[in-house]
Amino acid sequence: RPRVLSGIQPTADSFHLGNYLGAIRQWVALQDDHDAFYFIPDLHAITVEHDPKTLAARTRNAAAQLLALGLDPDRCTVFVQSHVPEHARLAWVLGCLTGFGEASRMTQFKDKSSKQGADRATIGLFTYPILQAADILLYQADRVPVGEDQRQHLELTRDLAQRFNSRFGKAFVVPEPYIPAGAAKIQDLQEPTAKMSKSASSPSGIVELLDDPKVSAKKIRSAVTDTEREIRYDVEAKPGISNLLTIYSALTDRKISELEAEYAGKGYGDLKKDLAEVVGDFVSPLRERVALYLEDPAELDRVLARGATRAGEVASSTLAAVHERIGFLPPM
Ligand code: TYM
Repeated sequence: RPRVLSGIQPTADSFHLGNYLGAIRQWVALQDDHDAFYFIPDLHAITVEHDPKTLAARTRNAAAQLLALGLDPDRCTVFVQSHVPEHARLAWVLGCLTGFGEASRMTQFKDKSSKQGADRATIGLFTYPILQAADILLYQADRVPVGEDQRQHLELTRDLAQRFNSRFGKAFVVPEPYIPAGAAKIQDLQEPTAKMSKSASSPSGIVELLDDPKVSAKKIRSAVTDTEREIRYDVEAKPGISNLLTIYSALTDRKISELEAEYAGKGYGDLKKDLAEVVGDFVSPLRERVALYLEDPAELDRVLARGATRAGEVASSTLAAVHERIGFLPPM
């Protein structure tokens, strides 16, 4: 079976609709016919300032959300990055193959560091994509299901895999991005030309999966649209309405053209009201399932421990091969 691997950071109390539609929904589908590895990158989460008091709770909460959204630990491997020390160790080796200029061209680093100021941006934030490459290459992943914003990091991953393989002999599968056609970039409700983002968006622009459905409904009703009246998909002229149609279409599995036809002659208020209901129907049972998983943190920790054992077996065998290829003296 082909391998897939992907990860989601524990940097907020709740995942948002972009995370689900852009990534996690594909993860759930792929676990059926792939050998799937899904993890919570807590090493990445400390590349920006964080609160140690909340990180562990958010990590467990992320695991609870993944299970509630449909990951089945009997069919896929779910684990926490820091439980598998090979991630940081492979990142070191890959860092020694990455050009400084090459790393400097990563747009996510440029965005995040320009917001923080050069002195507050850390070396960890700079080397973040190299660690991400290590995450992927350790597991010999064939496919990496992510949203559009991760495309450049996957390009770097592929470059590093090819570079290592051609310099030292084949140690890595060169992974393909797996980016959904419709929902790869869900936009902020208040600023529909920017992506919905845990870190950048204001709370009113993000539909958090663990929001009270009443709160989500309100956010959708106050989403920014335009001064026309026609409900039509046109990202350039109508980014707000197009984003609502994208979300609607993804959550109901209906074509955008079908929705346009259904809402012909109707108002933006009708669309928003119906979408609020669709979102409400999706998140209401989810909140309850997450709460149930969180009632038994010891069981969650056992799931993650089993995942780390399985992940560690694959990771250590890749790392051993890498160390051998680059000429490290094997330990006795
Ligand atoms: P993160 O935690 O920011 O996001 C998790 C996943 O959600 C997707 N996503 C979106 N998709 C559509 N629309 C949006 N508005 C939106 N916002 C987020 C992301 O593309 C991602 O797939 N660097 C990664 C974490 C990571 C990783 C990895 C991923 C670390 N190592 C190895 C894959 C493989 C990140 O920050 O994702």
